[in-house]
Amino acid sequence: MDVEGETTTPRRFVPDAPYDAVVVGAGPYGLSAAAHLLGRGLNVAVFGKTLELWREHMPRGMLLRSQWWATNLSDPGRRYTFRRFFRESRRKPGYPVPLDTFLEYALWFQRHAVPDVDETYVTSIEHRGGNFLLTLADGRRVESAAVVMAIGIRHYAHRPDEFRGLPPGLVIHSSELRDLEPFRGERVVVIGGGQSAVEYAALLHEVGATVDLVTRRPIVWLERDRMGERGVLEQIRAPDTGIGPGWKNWVLQNVPFLFYRLPRARKDRALAWYSSAWAADWLRDRIANKVTVHEGQTAVSFAIEDGKVDITLSDGARIRADHIVLGTGYKVDIDRLPMISPSLRAAIKDEMGIPLLGPSFESTVPGLYFVGVTSLPVFGPMYRFVLGCRSMAPRVARAIARQRRKRRGRALATEPELEIAVSSDRSPAGRRAHPIPSDETSTASWTQRILIARRR
Ligand SMILES: Cc1cc2nc3c(=O)[nH]c(=O)nc-3n(C[C@H](O)[C@H](O)[C@H](O)COP(=O)(O)OP(=O)(O)OC[C@H]3O[C@@H](n4cnc5c(N)ncnc54)[C@H](O)[C@@H]3O)c2cc1C
Ligand SMILES: NC(=O)c1ccc[n+]([C@@H]2O[C@H](COP(=O)([O-])OP(=O)(O)OC[C@H]3O[C@@H](n4cnc5c(N)ncnc54)[C@H](OP(=O)(O)O)[C@@H]3O)[C@@H](O)[C@H]2O)c1
Repeated sequence: MDVEGETTTPRRFVPDAPYDAVVVGAGPYGLSAAAHLLGRGLNVAVFGKTLELWREHMPRGMLLRSQWWATNLSDPGRRYTFRRFFRESRRKPGYPVPLDTFLEYALWFQRHAVPDVDETYVTSIEHRGGNFLLTLADGRRVESAAVVMAIGIRHYAHRPDEFRGLPPGLVIHSSELRDLEPFRGERVVVIGGGQSAVEYAALLHEVGATVDLVTRRPIVWLERDRMGERGVLEQIRAPDTGIGPGWKNWVLQNVPFLFYRLPRARKDRALAWYSSAWAADWLRDRIANKVTVHEGQTAVSFAIEDGKVDITLSDGARIRADHIVLGTGYKVDIDRLPMISPSLRAAIKDEMGIPLLGPSFESTVPGLYFVGVTSLPVFGPMYRFVLGCRSMAPRVARAIARQRRKRRGRALATEPELEIAVSSDRSPAGRRAHPIPSDETSTASWTQRILIARRR
């Protein structure tokens, strides 16, 4: 089944009153955060293209590295789980999960849990008078008390400097490639040794391209997935988790905010290990004797001729290629987020482009939250995977609901004009001798309306 274009995304008007929260991004993290915010009865808007990374920036035919049960989006009642989706669509869960199956599940989740996604991009976010002012790509403007940045990884695509001078048509980052059919019969050099590079190499070979994989370190293969095959003793020694077997992983998964409390040096050591590039074992046979692998090599020089690129590798080998595909990963750096206005950016404290975040994912700007891969260096490796949605979403929603209660409390305590109007109009016979005219009521702020309603 082709799942492109299957979303419920009507373009909507923008209300005058500020939202309680705007979620920027409609991937697994944005949808999960929105589901929990909606579950708390908040006034929420979600902007962004639904599952954009998965629908438009992953290769056709891709298989998920994560287990299906570790790839649930999160809603407050846990009603829209992958398990239920399998049951209702009469399919058998298995490993690895095809991309299209995940997409069908995630779009089913969106339709039920977050039916209103506005697919417009946010082009600017400013912070004014305690609220956020967001400008949309079509010129509309919305105001919100809180903003959840769930913008994913694509803004962070890493294009190493050495490839920058080459024509864009010749060099493509893996995140820009979905349809590989046009590469049939072409010669393609793939750079990198992680899951993206190895999987693109396999898929490109499978569509009929001639592929060279150039990786500066030997490929590190993940152990074969033996989920369901491991005996009790093995499970005791190293329990299964959504991020691989082992007690450390078990702790990361089941005590999801422990990592946050670790000292920086320990976090850095752990992140260095967890951020290493690995490739799934099931890709081995798909590249062995099919793709020319140049391990321990880098591309040192390039020459363009006849629309092709002549690449010289560090061992002196030369390859004349039609395209270079960069499977060179992603680097979090909030300076690369074009929608954050300079004044807002100046107020976000960071360490080398990584925002400082409080225990509820809130940045140093009150009401501004960063989730997903942007929060990974602070909250740990689980937050790079869909698995992290289930602990992130309730926590962010709780924090925003708490802030909203506080704001309401403050607003109710500081409504002098209405207080005076109502109390001075009070007759001995009753509280509403002179009801507030309806046109006043309609222009009253929401706090005024609550006061009016309460007094009636
Ligand atoms: C090739 C590949 C395969 C992966 N496979 C797995 C896997 O098997 N299992 C797993 O758990 N993880 C996998 N991941 C990691 C994956 O990125 C995350 O798990 C997940 O997508 C993170 O969700 P997210 O909502 O944070 O971001 P994304 O899914 O990237 O969503 C980002 C959202 O932000 C929106 N957006 C961006 N800019 C704007 C803007 N200016 N205004 C409004 N909206 C905007 C986009 O439209 C989109 O809706 C994979 C990653 C890659 C690159
Ligand atoms: N099927 C799937 O589920 C799937 C598919 C793709 C991606 N993913 C996920 O997406 C995330 C990102 O994966 P990824 O493979 O894109 O990134 P990655 O794991 O970070 O791998 C990046 C690779 O690029 C190399 N590299 C970086 N800069 C380079 C340079 N200047 N010159 C040469 N090589 C360079 C790195 O080499 P070093 O190792 O030497 O640094 C590494 O091999 C991972 O979480 C992964 O699991 C999942």
